[in-house]
Amino acid sequence: MTGVGDRLTVEIEAIAHGGHCVARHEGRVVFVRHAIPGERVDVVITGQGPKGRYFLADAVNVIQASPDRVDAPCAYASTCGGCDFQHVNVSRQRELKADVLREQLARLGGLDQVGGQPLADAVRVDPVAGDMDGLGWRTRVRYAVDPQGRVGFHRHHSHEVVPIDECVLATPELTSIGVQTRDWPGTREVVAVAASSGERVVVPSPTHVGTPARSLPVDVAVPGLRGRNWVREIAEGREWRVAADGFWQVHPGAAGTLVHYVREILSPLPGEHLLDLYSGVGLFAGLLAPNLGPSGQIDAVEVSVPACSDARRNLHDVPTVRIHQSAVDTWLSESPLETVDLVVLDPPRGGAGRRVIEAVLGLSPRAVAYVACDPAALGRDLGYARALGWEVACVRGFDLFPMTHHMEAVALIVPGSATTQ
Ligand SMILES: C[S@@+](CC[C@H](N)C(=O)[O-])C[C@H]1O[C@@H](n2cnc3c(N)ncnc32)[C@H](O)[C@@H]1O
Repeated sequence: MTGVGDRLTVEIEAIAHGGHCVARHEGRVVFVRHAIPGERVDVVITGQGPKGRYFLADAVNVIQASPDRVDAPCAYASTCGGCDFQHVNVSRQRELKADVLREQLARLGGLDQVGGQPLADAVRVDPVAGDMDGLGWRTRVRYAVDPQGRVGFHRHHSHEVVPIDECVLATPELTSIGVQTRDWPGTREVVAVAASSGERVVVPSPTHVGTPARSLPVDVAVPGLRGRNWVREIAEGREWRVAADGFWQVHPGAAGTLVHYVREILSPLPGEHLLDLYSGVGLFAGLLAPNLGPSGQIDAVEVSVPACSDARRNLHDVPTVRIHQSAVDTWLSESPLETVDLVVLDPPRGGAGRRVIEAVLGLSPRAVAYVACDPAALGRDLGYARALGWEVACVRGFDLFPMTHHMEAVALIVPGSATTQ
């Protein structure tokens, strides 16, 4: 009877959502970390699913390597749970992510084509322009702290902290703050941000202004000790005030990449009315407003009070944007609006869900851009849209999180010939 700790030899089949690959043993699926499709590897079983329906495993020895296997650029790649794909060259990482995206669109969304093309041709995952090696892109890091006060990241699916001296994904500006080279006794976690404006802030939690915080470079703000708890980010030439623990895309090229693509697929026109749902500090509202002109109108809806307050400051000079602090589903159910022209949907990981999709499509927009950080939630929500007769005109993935299994995907939903509203 196979169990945790056993060692097996398996053939690696497809990639699966979550950063592991599928193999089989005695009729059961084995989800293997640190492998690549096509490889033959020895694995150690690290866990199993309910009633032993599947196994979790880690590749510990490669018998037949993929041509895409590389030496991990990080010394902690096999123990730290932060990255999944350090052993894969970056272009294959993007192909693996595209496979996952297509699979979720097909399985959960029922899609076999997008915009008249088969999924294999229509759906790809692009790098952020200029990101050649997938390293040095993290501008925001939430470090965990172990009982000895050492910072690190959690081991995969564990609360155990793997201490680190360096994260190769962090930008040089973030690394040079030096959070990772100090001990933080009595601290549970430390958030560090190195914004595109050059501003840097460190927030230990619980609030901690002792020796490690005092010894940080003098330009680094530490709320409670010196400076403020927010930074200015820059996207498409505009400045955005964002709380240190608020939402802002982590890759320095991400915000601009997403806005550019959303603008391209929505083609906003002067005078149109746009909803920016899950609007954060106002990124899409602020950058699409000029396309709609002075006769355009944007309603931005965001549940977080601090994010709305930042959005109001960020967009005080854009009179066509109205910011509503509310949960999206509540706002939609209470809104007197009967129609809108365009919608940007950028929900958190769980996705928008059936009620929001139905309410949004009930407003008869001519196009909806759905920005998703989880391809499974995207696939499910596109399935709801298709059930109402709407069509998926295009889907593009973006590799905003190289070395990890995460990706961002943007889909364009348009009325179909059988649309019901
Ligand atoms: C992925 S972020 C997108 C933020 C923004 N569009 C951007 O690109 O910077 C998702 C946002 O949704 C907000 N949020 C989460 N649940 C929400 C809900 N039920 N209603 C409204 N906003 C919500 C979060 O606070 C967060 O700001």
